[in-house]
Amino acid sequence: MIERADLSTLWLLGDPVSHSLSPLIQNTALALLGETVVYLAARVTARDFSKVVQSLVALGALGANITVPHKLRAFELCDRHSPRATLMQAVNTLHFREGEIYGDNTDGVGWWNALTREFPVEFQRAVVLGAGGASRAVCHTLMANGVEELVLLNRTPEKARRLKDELPSPERVRIDSLSRFSSYLQDNTLVVQTTSVGLKGQESPVPLPQGWPDGCVLSELIYGRPTELLKRVRSLDGLAQDGLGMLCGQAAESLAIWTGRPVTEIPLEKMIEAARKKLS
Ligand code: ATR
Repeated sequence: MIERADLSTLWLLGDPVSHSLSPLIQNTALALLGETVVYLAARVTARDFSKVVQSLVALGALGANITVPHKLRAFELCDRHSPRATLMQAVNTLHFREGEIYGDNTDGVGWWNALTREFPVEFQRAVVLGAGGASRAVCHTLMANGVEELVLLNRTPEKARRLKDELPSPERVRIDSLSRFSSYLQDNTLVVQTTSVGLKGQESPVPLPQGWPDGCVLSELIYGRPTELLKRVRSLDGLAQDGLGMLCGQAAESLAIWTGRPVTEIPLEKMIEAARKKLS
């Protein structure tokens, strides 16, 4: 029960949000840090989104996480943006400070930290499945971290082309169809699965591979239950991770922004532990 009258609030705004693990993860960290802040989730329609953000500013809230489908609209509402949010033209973190709305995007850095913590390797080559919002954060982050060759496989070629043209070095990006996945599997390739296929059903966005080359890593962004692709890679004794690290990684980066603490102070392991326990 919340008894205190002096708490600040943080919010998750999206549609839907009822199954989100963010309140659990964030409140676990806030309690461990001794912050007098509570993190809540609210389902908000596109029609009400800007009104809700303005109301939170008026209420004196500390900030908000923004999830599907509002990340582009949130970008437009900000007074100032971080350089990476400007690159991605999308915002997942709002910080209300000194009467201004500051927007950042921690999806890419959260994913990158989760990947490199588990697999501290320098990848020259990456294959990214999907060209939606999550793919955009991943592709910008890969380019910023010096990946030399990026293969973008998507169901709709036009969307992949648009994303390619948006990236800082489009000449390093190649586009193909999901069905050609296996032909791009080589040693030491990073594969990032960003499509929504596998969220609900038993499908895979690509034909399941028959072998998994040495040093290849699958970073699957879906979490909760292993996708068909993740199961196949593990059954081939391949290196792989699910999306829980990214979820907690972006949450920790957002919390660092709101609290002004270095991200190293955020209890990331405890956040991951709480999420895994909830899912098991
Ligand atoms: P997110 O923000 O989670 O990335 P999104 O922007 O809606 O969500 O993107 C979803 C991604 O999953 C897209 O790459 C989409 O492919 P299209 O660009 O062709 O729409 C991909 N996707 C969704 N359903 C798919 C399916 N049945 N087969 C293949 N790809 C699919």
